[in-house]
Amino acid sequence: MRIDQGTRVYGLIGYPLDHSLSPFIHNLAFEAMGINAVYLPFPVKPGRLSAVVEGARALGIRGFNVTIPHKETIIPFLDGISPEAEACGSVNTVLIEEDRAVGHNTDGIGFMDSLEQEGVEVPRMAIILGAGGAARAIGHQLALRGTVTVFLNRTPERAEKLACDITRITGQESFGVSWDSDRISDFVQDAELLINTTPVGMYPGIDQRPPFVLKNLNPKSVVADIIYNPPKTRLLREAEALGLKTVSGLGMFVNQGVRSWEMFTGREAPRKLMEDELRGLLLKNET
Ligand code: ATR
Repeated sequence: MRIDQGTRVYGLIGYPLDHSLSPFIHNLAFEAMGINAVYLPFPVKPGRLSAVVEGARALGIRGFNVTIPHKETIIPFLDGISPEAEACGSVNTVLIEEDRAVGHNTDGIGFMDSLEQEGVEVPRMAIILGAGGAARAIGHQLALRGTVTVFLNRTPERAEKLACDITRITGQESFGVSWDSDRISDFVQDAELLINTTPVGMYPGIDQRPPFVLKNLNPKSVVADIIYNPPKTRLLREAEALGLKTVSGLGMFVNQGVRSWEMFTGREAPRKLMEDELRGLLLKNET
């Protein structure tokens, strides 16, 4: 890699950042496309965000991604945010142009891209497990496309609030209930898509799965996970064993990165290369 006065700097802020694979896919794409740029991990502790945004402007950093725990708390330090980021109340990409730092959110659209790539149609009804930031980003995109979404969450109040917010913002009907609510059976047969947005099943807890009974789903429904490590979670393996189509979280992870990378560079990203190399890396780490 060549570093000179023309090298553009991008990066990722979050804390801790030990396991992030964003630098891997972004730098891979810069190299493959012959772009003189570098993407660095910046572990930033809470409380330093004002300095980060001002410092990035001063250093001529063109853009950066934002991850846990800064996705919501960065918003007051930005000069503006996109409608998606506003609806989600969270930012995962910041672009700095002419000294203006503007926040975007590519998580929800990255998930929609992965459904399209897998040939899955926008569902009429979806069940989302979890009611955190990722559930909000995906639920918002689904609602914009006319999907009725039911959020199932360990803390039902959070699911109710999320459903209420989505209905208010998009005008689309949504519901929020607890994991063990009697009302789940009303939705299960009609759901065409189930999405796990909780961390249950993520490495190293790969033997775990969210407490949802897959066998009651309609045989035509699709099961998706947003966990990408491992690329095939226990939930997805069990869904496959029941003959259900599945969508791995690897696609969403790559696609949110692709959308950010394309905003950073204004070029089309080598998506397939990024996905193949990331899958190879994760599978190598598994063995
Ligand atoms: P993200 O931004 O990645 O979506 P988050 O905002 O922390 O992360 O949300 C994680 C979601 O997973 C939440 O809905 C959380 O449930 P609570 O609202 O009850 O906290 C859910 N979650 C996390 N760990 C879980 C577990 N062990 N079992 C069930 N749900 C869990």
